[in-house]
Amino acid sequence: MMSKEDGWISPKIIIGSGATGDYYYERELIEDEIWREILKGNNILISAPRRVGKTSVMKSITNNPKKGYKMIFENIQGINTEIMFYKTLYELILKCLSKFATNKEKIKNYFKQIGLTEISATSLKFEGKTLDYVYEINKILPQLDQEGEVIVLLIDELPEVLHTLHKSGKNEEAISILKNLRHWRQEEDYKMLKFVIAGSIGIHHVVNQVDGRTSDINDIKSIDCPALDNEQFDDYLNWAVKDASIVFDKTSTMYFKDKIQYFVPYYINLMLDEMDKSAMISQEKNIMSNDIDNAFNKIMKDNSYFTDWKKRLKDYLKPEDFSFVNQVLIKTSHEDDITAQDLYDMAVKANKTEDYMDLVYDLVHDGYLYNDNDKYRFISPFLKQYWLRTNPIYKA
Ligand SMILES: Nc1ncnc2c1ncn2[C@@H]1O[C@H](COP(=O)(O)OP(=O)(O)OP(=O)(O)O)[C@@H](O)[C@H]1O
Ligand SMILES: [Mg+2]
Repeated sequence: MMSKEDGWISPKIIIGSGATGDYYYERELIEDEIWREILKGNNILISAPRRVGKTSVMKSITNNPKKGYKMIFENIQGINTEIMFYKTLYELILKCLSKFATNKEKIKNYFKQIGLTEISATSLKFEGKTLDYVYEINKILPQLDQEGEVIVLLIDELPEVLHTLHKSGKNEEAISILKNLRHWRQEEDYKMLKFVIAGSIGIHHVVNQVDGRTSDINDIKSIDCPALDNEQFDDYLNWAVKDASIVFDKTSTMYFKDKIQYFVPYYINLMLDEMDKSAMISQEKNIMSNDIDNAFNKIMKDNSYFTDWKKRLKDYLKPEDFSFVNQVLIKTSHEDDITAQDLYDMAVKANKTEDYMDLVYDLVHDGYLYNDNDKYRFISPFLKQYWLRTNPIYKA
């Protein structure tokens, strides 16, 4: 019997962690900007709301190095001690050094000195020596030719690690990490070590929590990773469905845009995936507006895509801040927007008039709300619907 899958081609999408290879739609402007800053010798923070594609951009940059740059990507989520953090950095540095074309003799000697017997992409073997990682980093880097190759460490989820340390009573360790990173960024001796940092929670927020000031990271160049614009949406859609069975015409493309409003690949991919599944079952290749509505509703039924957005707020904010922020989101979901006056009135009730706008700015920065004159609205109808569905009753 012929299966419906025979000859059916799905759109070119992946849903989950970073999109790589064929599944990566090139974010050319962002990559160019990152490179311009790396070439200038700057350290970089990819600052963007959740799920817009930071990890994908980092991986792409790593896989397409420029001459003279040794790039390595690492997601450090899960690291829960200061030592483990340094160990990871040190090993990443060693891996880069092993690929250097310059300084070869010095590096070989150094590897011998530390008893490094084997190095590969996945493992390092030492001759049973215990090393002080910070000491070693501080020792080897200044020895290298300052005009030689540059090591670029692309570190994903650093803010999470700092937050984990902070929350588990190891704030001192988080402070030390910030101090060492700052030392490596600012001393001339380490200028061939560069960092590109990203994370799915705002680093400013976390640094503030850890040491009460954000001036510690002010020297890092912040680069935006914005949503796609109108034209880029069209281009993205064409790219994703180019060889696929499903087809969009002008009207359905317009309807698609109108439905999701906020054009990040993640939401587009979720929608395409649902449309593709239904179209395959019905064998109807032309996507119509009701297919788009159905896809949206199906995604909304599955809370698992969005529970994390709420959970993060709960994890990262103090209970009273979470409660305030959640009230703001509930009100906004029911009333479509929230005014500056509404926010102030809520802050008075919650006894938060001193810093409530910081919390609102965080919601904007982290991709929940956007600012439209003196009103705030949900940036994505998905999130708005999620807050509405999970809080159906609301008393003004
Ligand atoms: N350039 C891209 N091309 C294709 N798909 C992408 C791209 N960027 C993001 N996506 C889609 O969005 C999803 C999330 O991407 P990614 O993990 O890079 O985002 P992120 O900003 O790092 O998310 P988080 O904030 O959760 O860490 C991917 O699984 C993929 O579906
Ligand atoms: Mg990420």
